[in-house]
Amino acid sequence: MAAVVNVNGRICGERDAVVSVFDHGFVFGEGVYEVLRTYRREPFLFDAHVRRMRASAAMIALDVPFTNAELLSRIRATMEAAPDLEEAYIRVLLTRGVGEFSYDPRSCPEPTVVVIVKPFVPPPVGAVERGVALTLVDVTRNHPRSLNPLIKSNNLLNNALAMQQAIRHGSFEALMKNYRGEICECSQSNFFIVRAGEALTPPLEAGLLAGVTRAFVFELGARCGVPVREATLFEDDLRTADEAFLTSTTREIVPVVRVDALAIGTGAPGPVTRRLLEAFRERTQAVAPATTA
Ligand code: PDD
Repeated sequence: MAAVVNVNGRICGERDAVVSVFDHGFVFGEGVYEVLRTYRREPFLFDAHVRRMRASAAMIALDVPFTNAELLSRIRATMEAAPDLEEAYIRVLLTRGVGEFSYDPRSCPEPTVVVIVKPFVPPPVGAVERGVALTLVDVTRNHPRSLNPLIKSNNLLNNALAMQQAIRHGSFEALMKNYRGEICECSQSNFFIVRAGEALTPPLEAGLLAGVTRAFVFELGARCGVPVREATLFEDDLRTADEAFLTSTTREIVPVVRVDALAIGTGAPGPVTRRLLEAFRERTQAVAPATTA
């Protein structure tokens, strides 16, 4: 099924979904985005996603022209216009809008808001059951004082260049280091290792996106008895890890069994990863309707 798109409140099919070439999102790459998915047709962790979008927008001095309730009803209206839609992939884009070619934010009085709704496609079952391989790429994650990875920016060249390397190696994801040489995150997901029963993930201060799923894993760990904490990780930690996994909205929790030639732990998905994934699935089966209270 094709996408249904909402451009500044107007719902249309993908062929008619257009924004101006003078939009600074296109000309300068000035914009932020969020990717959500539904469970039982309810946008999952909606509040956390909008909170991050507001934080991203604030970091580029971009006004958010909607309330949480307005965005939620815009998403729902777009979903309703998609015939036979089961679970949805929802991409919300907020760009600077149309204006003169100037970096002065005042040149663009009205931001552009786009909501794209498509059928949700989960990761391949084999990836979750058997685990995936990563490539540790030599594209360094953006320096936080250059383009802070906390900004979920439409400017995805850093991520795309990293992923191109992983694709050339036939890997599922690209694992990136930060400018200090520490393990940071993947091109489209956060990264965890498991050692001695604890799940460890690089701190936000390492310069990475504050993943909504990453934060949710801390919550899940507390519920199912898996200690989860931040820890600075180096390449050597991959050698001593018992397990590893990645997290994202569209992928939930995917076991990582290999990084380049190195097998992680036994080279098969491990029990702690499985426990977290089970806890994840239990929570998503019990989802309540998204509210904006
Ligand atoms: N990617 N790190 C990066 C660089 C990401 O782009 C993403 C999300 C994540 C995981 O964040 P979350 O758990 O909030 O989805 C981490 C989305 C899914 C995407 O760009 O499609």
